[in-house]
Amino acid sequence: MLEVIVAVLVSSFVLVSGGFLGCFYTRRTKQKEEKKESGEDLLSFDFNSSVEPNGNGTGLRHRNHTDFDLPMFSYASVCAATDNFSPENKLGEGGFGPVYKGKLLNGQEIALKRLSKKSGQGVEEFRNEILLIAKLQHRNLVRLLGCCIDPDESILIYEYMPNKSLDFYLFGSDKEVILDWTTRTRIVEGIAQGLLYLHEYSRVRIIHRDLKASNILLDEEMNPKISDFGMARIFGGNDSRTYTKRIVGTFGYMAPEYALQGLFSIKSDVFSFGVLVLEIVCGKRNTGFYLTDTLNLLGHAWELWVSGRGVELMDPAVGCSPASAALRYINVGLLCVQENPNDRPNMSAVISMLSSTELGTPLPAPKQPAFSTTTAVSLASSVVNNNAGKYSVNDLTVSALQPR
Ligand SMILES: *[C@@H]1O[C@H](CO)[C@@H](O)[C@H](O)[C@H]1NC(C)=O
Ligand SMILES: *[C@@H]1O[C@H](CO)[C@@H](O)[C@H](O)[C@H]1NC(C)=O
Ligand SMILES: *[C@@H]1O[C@H](CO)[C@@H](O)[C@H](O)[C@H]1NC(C)=O
Ligand SMILES: *[C@@H]1O[C@H](CO)[C@@H](O)[C@H](O)[C@H]1NC(C)=O
Ligand SMILES: *[C@@H]1O[C@H](CO)[C@@H](O)[C@H](O)[C@H]1NC(C)=O
Ligand SMILES: *[C@@H]1O[C@H](CO)[C@@H](O)[C@H](O)[C@H]1NC(C)=O
Repeated sequence: MLEVIVAVLVSSFVLVSGGFLGCFYTRRTKQKEEKKESGEDLLSFDFNSSVEPNGNGTGLRHRNHTDFDLPMFSYASVCAATDNFSPENKLGEGGFGPVYKGKLLNGQEIALKRLSKKSGQGVEEFRNEILLIAKLQHRNLVRLLGCCIDPDESILIYEYMPNKSLDFYLFGSDKEVILDWTTRTRIVEGIAQGLLYLHEYSRVRIIHRDLKASNILLDEEMNPKISDFGMARIFGGNDSRTYTKRIVGTFGYMAPEYALQGLFSIKSDVFSFGVLVLEIVCGKRNTGFYLTDTLNLLGHAWELWVSGRGVELMDPAVGCSPASAALRYINVGLLCVQENPNDRPNMSAVISMLSSTELGTPLPAPKQPAFSTTTAVSLASSVVNNNAGKYSVNDLTVSALQPR
C-alpha cells in the first residue's frame, strides 16, 4: 500500500515539476523499454477521426491525459507508408533532414520529416518542434499529425501540402503558374493571421524566428500555411524580448537587432513578415537583388517609395491590379521593416491596416528600412557568420511554458 502511495506521489511530482519536458521524456523512455516495434500502425491510422482537439475519436484512445501528446507510430509502419523512404517519395530537403511523402491505406497523403540521430544535428530543434507545434491549431499553420521515435532516427509526420512552397511560385525559374493579385493578397493575409495566432492568440507566445518564403507551404486551394518551427521560441508571461548568442535564421529575413545583437521579439518576426510582403508584391527575392546604388529589395523599395513611384515595384507578371491596394501593401511592408523594432506595428495592427479598404484611413508613413545600404548588410552578414556555429545554454530556455 505504502509503495503505491509513494509511487503515486513520486509520479505526480515528476509530472508537475517536469511538466511538459518530463512527460515527453517519460513517454520516450517507456517507448524504449517496450518492444522496439511499439507505436501505432501508421498505415491504418485514420487522422480524420483524431482531428478535433480533445475529441474522443479512435486516434486518441490511448492518450487522454494531456493535449500535447501526439500519436506515436511504429518505425515499420512509417517505412511501409513511404515505401522504405524511396527516392521517388522524396519531396525535398528541409532545415534538418529530408522530407518524404507517404500514403496511408485509406489514401490520405502525409509528409514526413526525417532526422537522423547519428548526425547529432538538429535534435534540439526536432524536440523543440514537437513540443511547440503539437499544441498549435490554426488553419494557417501546418499541422503536425504525429511522430515516430526510433533508436536511430526521429520522424515528424505532417499534413501533406500538394502545392509546394511560396518561393517556388515567386522566384522559381520556370514560372508556369503566375500568382494573380487576389491570390497574393490572400496569401499575405493568411500568413498574417497565422503569425497573429502565434504571437497573440495561441496559449503561449511564440516567435517563429525563421519566417521566409520557403517556409510558407500552400494547400490545394493555395492557402498559405506556416511551417518549420525548428527555430521557434516560446515566451512566457510578460517577456517581450530576449537575447540569444546563437543566431540562427535566414539572411535577408533577419531583423537588424537580431542579426547584429541576437535580440529577438515578436517585432523581429514582424520584420521578416515585412520582407515577405515586399517579396510577394514584387516577385523578387530580398537577397540577390542587386542594383548599382542600392543593394537589396528593401533599399530599392524605399527609393521608389520616397520618390512617389511605389507602383513600379509591382511584379509586372501580376497584370492589372488596383494600384491603391498594391501601394497599401507596400506601405505596410515598409512599416514592418523599419530599423527600430518599436516603430514596427504588431500583427494585429498589420491586419487592420491591410484590411482597411476605405480610402479615408491613411497609413503612417514608414521610415527608412533597416539594411537598405551596403555597409549595414555586409556588417550583418559578417556578424552572423561569426555566430553561426556557436551554441548557448541561454538559447534553450524552452521552460517558460506558462499559459497566457
Ligand atoms: C479525411 O478528410 C478529408 C478532408 O476532409 C477527406 O477528403 C478524406 O476523404 C477523409 N478520409 C477518410 C478516410 O475519411
Ligand atoms: C464523443 O463523446 C460524446 C459524448 O461525450 C459522444 O456524444 C460522441 O458521439 C463521441 N464521438 C465519437 C466520435 O465517438
Ligand atoms: C483515460 O482517462 C480516464 C480518466 O480520466 C481513465 O479512467 C482511463 O483509464 C484513461 N484511458 C487511458 C487509455 O489511459
Ligand atoms: C494546387 O493543388 C491542386 C491539387 O493538387 C491542383 O489541382 C492545383 O492545380 C494546384 N495549383 C497550382 C497553382 O499548382
Ligand atoms: C506582468 O505585468 C503585470 C503588469 O504589467 C505585472 O503586474 C506582473 O507582475 C508581470 N508579471 C511578470 C511575471 O513579470
Ligand atoms: C498592437 O498595436 C496596437 C497599436 O499600436 C496597440 O493598440 C495594441 O495594444 C497592440 N497589441 C498588442 C497585443 O500589443
